[in-house]
Formats: sequence, structure tokens, C-alpha cells
Amino acid sequence: MRQYRIAAIPGDGIGTEVIEAGVEVIQALAARDGGFELAIENFDWGTDYYLKHGKMMPEDGLEALKPFDAIYFGSAGDPRVPDHISLWGLRLAICQPFDQYANVRPSRLLPGIDGPLKGVAPEDLDWVIVRENTEGEYAGAGGRVHRGHPEEVGMDVTVFTRTGVERIQRFALELARSRPAKHLTLVTKSNAQRHGMVMWDDVFEEIRGDYPDLEIDKMLVDAMTTRMVLNPKSIDVVVATNLHADVLSDLAAALSGSMGIAPTGNLNPERKYPSMFEPIHGSAFDIMGKGVANPIGAFWSASMMLEHIGEPKAAATLMSAIETFAARGETMPRDLGGEAGTREVTDAIIGLIEGRN
Ligand code: IPM
Ligand code: MG
Repeated sequence: MRQYRIAAIPGDGIGTEVIEAGVEVIQALAARDGGFELAIENFDWGTDYYLKHGKMMPEDGLEALKPFDAIYFGSAGDPRVPDHISLWGLRLAICQPFDQYANVRPSRLLPGIDGPLKGVAPEDLDWVIVRENTEGEYAGAGGRVHRGHPEEVGMDVTVFTRTGVERIQRFALELARSRPAKHLTLVTKSNAQRHGMVMWDDVFEEIRGDYPDLEIDKMLVDAMTTRMVLNPKSIDVVVATNLHADVLSDLAAALSGSMGIAPTGNLNPERKYPSMFEPIHGSAFDIMGKGVANPIGAFWSASMMLEHIGEPKAAATLMSAIETFAARGETMPRDLGGEAGTREVTDAIIGLIEGRN
């Protein structure tokens, strides 16, 4: 029997609700498959932990996570604590030291889901946004001086390293190579930002020759937003900086129907450290505790996690349950125009996994 250890960090807001649902779903998959077992350990880190202990996770938190095969994360963010504290204290405090440099964000218009774009068929919107996840605009470099005085200065310094740029571009090129369309778009803003972004272009020119089988194009980030809306079919894999891809991936999620379904993998491709999987929707405090959160983003993320740990069959079963669920459209959560709560959606997916529905 294959065995895996998963660290679950539900975190804040609806994170708790969707991760609990996701854990039920992956346990149902393991039970049905019979070939593997999941030992899932829960970590109560997040804002409640912060209010008790003054930090989002314990000092030795990373050591505790290291032996796990993967991390299943809900969200970090709570109105009681400034967002930059919760983010830097938990999510980035895991992504950066664990060198999870490839943030992979697939977006698909699932059959049955009505996205906001007119005349776009499901096969026309099938993208993966690859986000650089350890440096760039999120490097944390900068500072504030003359605090509170009229001459106060605040600086966030974007940091790009050649190593960081080359490895994320190669990761995206390899990913594009593995997909049927074999197409990659490099997104930058190298007309206005004339140092780091031009280095992105230079590095790309040096390495793209290694991928002669791919169709490649380059786009400025502002123009990319219009292309996503006006010509979604022309896009396959996109690689961009930490901040640019953050913005593009929210747009991608909205265009594919809802923020509630979008998944993410924070990958350490070398597998020196565990990778982390999470829905991209965040803590959504306005709907917390009401049982109405859409767990599909957490389920899709769980499918990515199963794929990553080496259970592609279970990953595919889960993905096809999600697709069937969407195509039937009977038990849709509120963000997708239905009335179903987290419980009903979870039951419907488990029913499909167990072959009851
Ligand atoms: C995301 C989120 C985070 C980010 C927030 C919560 C800081 O928007 O995962 O895309 O910007 O990285
Ligand atoms: Mg975001």
C-alpha cells in the first residue's frame, strides 16, 4: 500500500470550510482506489494562532512541515490582522523558504459553467498561468523612512535573479511542451521597466532555442489582459512575474466562471521540499461560517496535489467528478448561480467518486 503524509493548514476564513471538505473528498478517493493511504495531519496555524502566540506559525513550523509529501492550504487573511502580516507570516513564510518557485494556475471553462465571455466554448479557454513565486515584486525588499513625516518615503524593490528567471521560464516552457497546443506566451512589461524586465526578455532569448518544437510569443502585460478577454483561444501557457501573474490569474479565474473554482499549486519542482496546494479564492470573510463556500477550488487543488505526489489516477478521477458535476449543473454553489452549500457540493462530488451518482 502506498502511503503519503499530507499537512493540512486550513488557515483563515472559509479556508477551514473548504479544506475540511477537500480532506473528505481525498479520503473518499483513497478508499475507493484501495492502492494508497493518506495520513492527514491538521495544523491550526493562522490568525487565531497569531492572536494567541504573536505569530502566524510556530518558529519550528517549517521543520514540522518538511517530512510531509505535500501541504494542503486553505487561506491566510483576517480583518483582525493587517493583510501583509498574515501573508508574510504564513503563506510566503512557507513558499519562499521551501523554494516553491513555480506557482501553477490552470484555468478552464468547464462544460456547463457559464463564463462572462460571449461565444466562447470550453475548448477555447484552457490556460495555465505560471507565476514566478519566490522573488520579483514579492521579494520583500524595500523599506520606509521618515515614517509619519511629510517627507516619508516607501519603497518596494523588485528583485529578479538570473537563476530565478531562467528556472521559471524553463519550467513554463517544459509545461507548454507537455500540452497538446505546445504554445507559450512570455508576459513582461519591458517597455516601461527597463532593467529587470529587459533581463526577462534577454534570458528568454538565450533559452528559447532549446524549445524549437514550441510556438512562442511575447506580450506586454497590459495588452495581455485584452487578449485574454478578446481572443482567449490564442492562449495556452503563460509565464509572468509574481505580481503580473497574480493579477492575470484573478482575471483568468473570473473569465472561467468564478474565483471559487480556481486552483493553485506552489511547486518546488526539484522536490527538495514539500509543495503546497491551495484554492486561489482567499479567506472570503463575508461568507465565512455560513456553509456556502464553493469547495471546487479546493477540490481542483487537491487533484493537482494527488497528481504531484504520484497518484495520477486518483487525480483524474477527481477532475472528472468535478467536470461531471459542472456539466450536470444541478447542485451549483451560489457563486455559480445555484443554491447549494459546501455540504451539498461535497456530497455530490463524493457521490460521483464512489459511483453512486
Ligand atoms: C494569491 C493571492 C495572494 C497573493 C494574496 C492573498 C496576498 O492574491 O494567491 O493570488 O497576492 O499572492
Ligand atoms: Mg491573487
